[in-house]
Amino acid sequence: MNQTRSIFGFLVLFILLSGAKTEDADVIEALVVFMDKLAPGSVKNTPNWGWNDSSDPCTSKWVGVTCDNEGKTVKKIVLEKLNLSGIFDTESVCKVNNLLVLSLNFNNLTGNLQPDISNCIKLTHLYLSENHFSGNLPDSIADLPSVKRIIISNNEFTGKLPDFSRTTTLLTFFAQNNRFTGQLPNFNYNQLEGFNVANNDLSGPVPDDTGRFDANSFAGNPQLCGKKLPVSCPVKKKKKKPTFRDFVIYSGYLILGLIVMVLVAVLIFKNKKKKQENVKDEKHGTDSGRSSGSRNSRARSEFSATSVESGGISSSMVVLSSPVVNGLKFEDLLRAPAELIGRGKHGSLYKVKPDGGVPLVVKRIKDWKISRDAFKKRMQRINEIKHPNVLPLVAYYSSKQEKLLVYEYQQNGSLFRLLHGSQNGQMFDWGSRLSLASSVASALAFMHEELKSDFIPHGNLKSSNILLKNNMEPCLSEYGLMPIDQKDPDQTATTFQSDVYAFGVVLLELLTGKPVQDDGSGLAKWVSSVVKEEWTVEVFDKALIVEGASEERMVGLLQVALKCVNTEMPPQMGEVAARISSLKEEEERSMTSSDP
Ligand SMILES: *[C@@H]1O[C@H](CO)[C@@H](O)[C@H](O)[C@H]1NC(C)=O
Ligand SMILES: *[C@@H]1O[C@H](CO)[C@@H](O)[C@H](O)[C@H]1NC(C)=O
Ligand SMILES: *[C@@H]1O[C@H](CO)[C@@H](O)[C@H](O)[C@H]1NC(C)=O
Repeated sequence: MNQTRSIFGFLVLFILLSGAKTEDADVIEALVVFMDKLAPGSVKNTPNWGWNDSSDPCTSKWVGVTCDNEGKTVKKIVLEKLNLSGIFDTESVCKVNNLLVLSLNFNNLTGNLQPDISNCIKLTHLYLSENHFSGNLPDSIADLPSVKRIIISNNEFTGKLPDFSRTTTLLTFFAQNNRFTGQLPNFNYNQLEGFNVANNDLSGPVPDDTGRFDANSFAGNPQLCGKKLPVSCPVKKKKKKPTFRDFVIYSGYLILGLIVMVLVAVLIFKNKKKKQENVKDEKHGTDSGRSSGSRNSRARSEFSATSVESGGISSSMVVLSSPVVNGLKFEDLLRAPAELIGRGKHGSLYKVKPDGGVPLVVKRIKDWKISRDAFKKRMQRINEIKHPNVLPLVAYYSSKQEKLLVYEYQQNGSLFRLLHGSQNGQMFDWGSRLSLASSVASALAFMHEELKSDFIPHGNLKSSNILLKNNMEPCLSEYGLMPIDQKDPDQTATTFQSDVYAFGVVLLELLTGKPVQDDGSGLAKWVSSVVKEEWTVEVFDKALIVEGASEERMVGLLQVALKCVNTEMPPQMGEVAARISSLKEEEERSMTSSDP
């Protein structure tokens, strides 16, 4: 019922907007040229074919064209199995500003793929399989900024494959049954869901070190070598005996090491002295300068002040096995410049850059009443459970007064900043929002499942705690840092429920684009009231409406969000994750199916 009314609401919006202009005349003209070159034959005599400049691609429903919900811009062009025997005019088709999907699978197209394919900046799906394309794949294809799936199998492409390591959005690459030669370039294998380069003429080692793709993905390239292939790569020669030169280098390292150790010792001694002086100062009533003040230098001593006092500091800092901080020492943290970047309910956050290391984030929690053993057990337990969408802990330190948690710094910032910050032209489209929601939901569901018996919920989920990795995948930070009384199972149950509630609020933020105050109850109340008045469309972020996001799936996600913020009967995270994952699958299907 709700749904029909909201679709009605949407229709009103549609009628209001459909008086507006659709694609510009020059875009329409470009599309006509594109088709003329694609189909020199007779397909154009098909009734209602369209593709002429006296009609409109959206309102006249040209064959193979799908527009956004408002009928304003072309989003998909799917022309499959039409015996098209011309050439692919990239220059023309890339004039369509909002083109997301282009499929020309199963035709008879010839010629090269032109470098200006990279002008299709919003393109996510490029399907060209089963044609007669030939020549090199242009390097610029790896610069398509939004591309997720490239399928060019069963053609006659030749030459080297471009370097795809800079393409961070790619999920599928199918290029089997072509005539590619040369070495296999790097891809972001960790992120790829599908990969196939079988039956080409590639040579040299397979760079995939993840082992996610089996021999079938590489078969039929007689000169390709690797662990899983019939041909193994030649082993490099073992190191020769150490020479005099090596000896000089190693003794150099040794001396350097000694100098560093002496320096560290001197610094610790100095710090200790300073600390004692500080204590004296405080006794004399000097303000220790906790409020604002000069942030940098203050912040530095601030998070380290109480930690320096007891001897054997290093022994109480536990560095977990992490490739990012090989051999990090507590002293390195103390010495490094620190910058206060946040102050939350449960503590402060510092960005620290140890000499020569990667930037880190130190979360400092004061007065958490938890025994050292319980704290340690908790941190070890969280560390044992690894999920790709949960930020791993790098190290932790515990003293009576404070706990320090160390993470790798994520330079892409948080979901909060992406949604509400100055967006410097970055588009955060519906597909990405849905996919982010799905990743976060499954990470949270996974953690809940694993940590149920340990009574460790996240405890402080919000959009500023959802960080973005280098590939813009989300990861949950600060898992399990909320001080709760573990002896009270009632409280634990409610905190697991508050995670679900907090996740619901994050969904509302994604859908409405509105920032959240306090615990999000204000936003939840507003959304519920608007939905009750049956003006559902009103709640959605204008950017999503303009983009033409599927209303059906936005409403679907909204229903999940409202369930999560329903305090009387909150669902389990597992249930929530499954529902969002199926919405995401529907979305992906709709993007690729040929049916408009
Ligand atoms: C495909 O098109 C070519 C030339 O345009 C024509 O000769 C051929 O008969 C067509 N084949 C089919 C199956 O329509
Ligand atoms: C242009 O395409 C429209 C939609 O298919 C069709 O109704 C119209 O007759 C076509 N015009 C010309 C001149 O072919
Ligand atoms: C391609 O063209 C040839 C002859 O021109 C035709 O026999 C074949 O069916 C066409 N292929 C497709 C997929 O339409």
